[in-house]
Order: sequence, then C-alpha cells, then structure tokens
Amino acid sequence: MTFLGLIYEQLFVKPTYPTTSCAGQTIIVTGSNVGLGKEAARHFARLGASKLILAVRNTKAGEAAKHDIESTTRCSPEVIEVWPLDLSSYASVKAFADRASELPRLDVLLENAGIAAVKWQVFEGHESTLTVNVISTFYLALLLLPKLKSSAKQFGIKPRLTIVSSAVHAQAKFAEWKEPKIFDALDNESKFDVWERYPLSKLLEVLVVRQIAPGVEGSGVILNILNPGLCHSELARDAGWPLTVMKFFLARTTEVGSRTLVAAAVAGPEAQGKYMHNGKVDESVVSPFVKSEDGKLAAEKVWKELSAILEAIQPGVTSNL
Ligand SMILES: NC(=O)c1ccc[n+]([C@@H]2O[C@H](COP(=O)([O-])OP(=O)(O)OC[C@H]3O[C@@H](n4cnc5c(N)ncnc54)[C@H](OP(=O)(O)O)[C@@H]3O)[C@@H](O)[C@H]2O)c1
Repeated sequence: MTFLGLIYEQLFVKPTYPTTSCAGQTIIVTGSNVGLGKEAARHFARLGASKLILAVRNTKAGEAAKHDIESTTRCSPEVIEVWPLDLSSYASVKAFADRASELPRLDVLLENAGIAAVKWQVFEGHESTLTVNVISTFYLALLLLPKLKSSAKQFGIKPRLTIVSSAVHAQAKFAEWKEPKIFDALDNESKFDVWERYPLSKLLEVLVVRQIAPGVEGSGVILNILNPGLCHSELARDAGWPLTVMKFFLARTTEVGSRTLVAAAVAGPEAQGKYMHNGKVDESVVSPFVKSEDGKLAAEKVWKELSAILEAIQPGVTSNL
C-alpha cells in the first residue's frame, strides 16, 4: 500500500461496529488487560459471550480490565474470568492450555498478545519478540487446536483461531530467510536490528498461518490473521517520538481498531486461512514478498524450523494440526 493510501485508510475508513451475537460462546482473548485485546473483549461481553477469558500476564491488571468491562457492559460477573498466561514462558503457555482444554467448549481463541521490543532480550533461548509473538503464539495455537476441533464436532460450530498481525509485515526485509538456519540467524545478537524485528515477527506470523492453513482446512476450525491498522494502545510505548507523532495524527482509537479483531473472530468460512484488513478478507494487501515464489519457499523453511522448535518444547505437538 502507498503512504497516501495508508493515510486515507487511517483517516477515512472505519471498520464496521460489531453486531454479531456471541451468545453461548466461550472466548479467549490473549493480552486483554489493555489495548486492542481489552476493547475486543469489551465487544464480546456486550455481544453476549457466555464465558470470556482474559488471558494476561499481569492478573491484577486483568482484574482491573474485568471490572472496567463489567461496569461498561453490565455483563454478569460470572462471564469474565482472568487467567494467567505469560508468553515468555513455555511452562505458562502449557499450563494455560491444559486449563483451557478442560473447558466444556471453545468458540474463539483470539491470539492478540504481542510485544514490540526496543532492546535485545532473550526468553526461553530465543530473542524475546520471536518467543512472544511467534513461538509461544503458535505453541498455544497448536495446544488448543484439539479443543477447537472437538468443539466444532460436538456443538456443530465453526470455532475461530485468530492471530493478530500487522500491515507492517510488509516492511520487513527478512534477508535471513536465505540463511541455512533462519532462527539461529535471528537469534544472533550481533546482527539484531531492533527496527526490523517487530515487522519481521508479524511477517513470520503471516507466513506461518499461510503454511499451516491447509492443515486446518476441513477440521471445522476457521484460522485467520488480521491487520488492525495503526491504533492507539500501549504498544511501542518506548519507540520514540516519530511513532508518537504519527499516532497523534493517524491512529484509530483503540475501540475502532478492536473492531477488526472482532470481525475476524466472527468471520465465516470465506476467511479460512485468509488475511483480514479493515475487518474484511483482503489478500490484496498481503505483501508482494509473501505472495512471491521466494515467499512460499520462505514460509516452508520457517514452518519447518518452527515445527522443530515446537517439537523440542513438546514432542508430538505439531501432530495436532
Ligand atoms: N496498536 C497498533 O497500532 C497495532 C497495529 C498492528 C498490529 N497490532 C497488534 O495488535 C496486538 C495488540 O497490541 P496493542 O496495540 O493492543 O498493544 P498493547 O496495548 O501493548 O497490548 C499488548 C498486550 O499483550 C500483552 N503481552 C505482552 N507480552 C506478553 C506476554 N509475554 N505474555 C502475555 N501477554 C503479553 C500485554 O500485556 P502487558 O499489559 O502486561 O504488557 C498487553 O495486554 C499485537 O499483536 C500487536 O502486534 C497493533
């Protein structure tokens, strides 16, 4: 998309206010104590979700979000639960998934939590953005796929597995895809490019979703990925004044941005394996690299390596696909 196109969309395109009922649904939103996740959760509560799980690393902040959502939507206090989930720890991801697997049903797993790290840090042996935005995100997805699939069969529903990505995936150069081992190259601190890393993590999400989508096809689960647009939130709070200025002029409110998350979480079969933009399926804005032959090769390589990482965390987990 051109810069002018971006300005136009940010200022004049408003995703539709969500009205699809979520009555009877059990919905998990990761990273829902603040930002887009919290506003999406507020919509789900208003739309009548029966159980809404705020999956957060800071449960005190999660409880504050629960009370805030309850006071604005007047949903019953039994609807919202706050569960601990820290994507920087595989043990936390596993504990969360084990607990969620005991739920009677699961209609939506909305994987929204993410970071835009401004310095080098290592979680679980990998650079922090890779661990949180990519490895743990897909680890959780694979751990809960069986629950989503069984819910589809048992209740005749179409559960959604929705990943929050970004239009900035198109800005990543991703020269490392040609390296013999992509994740090793990305975990090399001496070559760490702090400005490249967040867009790159969002690109990896897009590549992986496209790679695993055929495996999810036919299971009854709808897997999709979305771009919320530039929105006000806590993300990149330390990224400096250029982003602050850009957000001041162009950013959507958090509520308006969150509509795109809800749109993907209620989308129909047309969204299977697809990229959503402004609340609609729109593959035209997926980056040219992703759609190129090189992009397809890169997706295969990334998934092969990510599968090996996930299998090392938990043998057999990729067979949940
Ligand atoms: N805002 C935008 O302009 C924009 C644009 C495109 C895409 N996105 C994407 O939208 C999603 C939500 O971002 P946002 O803008 O709403 O940012 P945000 O306000 O910073 O919210 C991010 C959420 O993720 C949580 N989180 C961070 N690290 C975590 C971890 N290790 N384990 C569990 N949760 C963790 C945060 O928890 P804490 O409060 O504890 O830090 C917070 O709840 C992200 O995936 C982001 O990449 C945002």
